[in-house]
Amino acid sequence: MRSVAFTNIGSLITNDQGLGLGLLGELQNASVVVEDGLIAWVGDSNSIPETDENIDVQGGTLLPGFVDSHAHLMFAGDRASEFSARMAGQAYAAGGIRTTVAATRAATDAELEANFLRLAAEMRSAGITTFETKSGYGLTVEDESRALRIASKFTSETTYLGAHVVPAEFEGRADDYVSLVTGEMLNQVADNAKWIDVFCDRGAFTVEQAREILTAGKAAGLRPRIHANQLQQGGGIQLAVEMDCASADHCTHFDNSDIDALAGSNTVATLLPGAEFSTRAEYPDARKLWDAGVTVALATDCNPGSSYTTSMPFCIAVAVRDMHFTVEQAIWSATMGGAKALRRSDIGAIKVGMNADFVQLDAPSALHLAYRPGVNLVNKTYTLEDFK
Ligand code: NIG
Ligand code: FE
Repeated sequence: MRSVAFTNIGSLITNDQGLGLGLLGELQNASVVVEDGLIAWVGDSNSIPETDENIDVQGGTLLPGFVDSHAHLMFAGDRASEFSARMAGQAYAAGGIRTTVAATRAATDAELEANFLRLAAEMRSAGITTFETKSGYGLTVEDESRALRIASKFTSETTYLGAHVVPAEFEGRADDYVSLVTGEMLNQVADNAKWIDVFCDRGAFTVEQAREILTAGKAAGLRPRIHANQLQQGGGIQLAVEMDCASADHCTHFDNSDIDALAGSNTVATLLPGAEFSTRAEYPDARKLWDAGVTVALATDCNPGSSYTTSMPFCIAVAVRDMHFTVEQAIWSATMGGAKALRRSDIGAIKVGMNADFVQLDAPSALHLAYRPGVNLVNKTYTLEDFK
């Protein structure tokens, strides 16, 4: 069994409040030992056990790897001109998804896989050690199946989003499309999808359709999550709680009854600052969620339409500046929050027994993630595979 010590850590973020200070469980003068891919020891550097190898962090910060619980990496093409038109005053609408659907259908498997791997590599270099990814740009039985077949080779967190929008060929026949999504398409994708998701919003699917879709997914053994209230206040968050979704994502709009529902539930609110940034939307005020005791996650929402970023540090900086997260809250939400949004207990903290997934920053504290916006502070990203 191979053992590796991380030493000379300027600041260690454990997310273990029983061990270190504050929300982030911060420790100074601490070391970490990894054995066979798992965290075996965390403690004062003076009492570190002997190991086979040593990694000198050179006074930098070590924190849990970022957990990106919401991304759409299975697509082809881009929508730079749509973004540019938006910055010149046009509004964002769900219908833009159809542009990417056309490009994705026209791509070969090899092209889709190459684009996916390019983005996954970007994520890794930005400190993301676990990511979820969705289908949703195929919208035929065959194209949704191949997206999930390819994605499932590289991540266990795969999500079936056949209900992203109603594709053009089903225009005016949304209920027929819902029947396909809950019938043949679901049967074909079920083996390669862990989660089921639906875009429940203006221009996409109604609450009633979303309930039907998530119910069918659950019956097929998939676990529910939802795109809710991105474009308008609606019933998506309440539905998330009703269906015991692991997470309600976006939550750009919410009222007090949504906050109450989330606060008394097992559903995480996942905020996606890249989407408000890139669609020039109003940012939600995360303080209302935190103050009510809601569990809050941050994710990139990487996709070619509303948020073409793979940078969790960027999302942290925007969340702090414009959504009123404290810096500590934003870092927690991008690590432990993401783990909770995926209902994972093996990632998100630096704690004995958990996966050895770390980000090493060239910065004396994790606060620099928001304090130094746009600067690449990630020196190295480690996942448990690196220690096997
Ligand atoms: O999460 N909101 C729905 N889906 C994506 C955007 C998709 C697109 O515009 O291509 C999102 O923001
Ligand atoms: Fe999304």
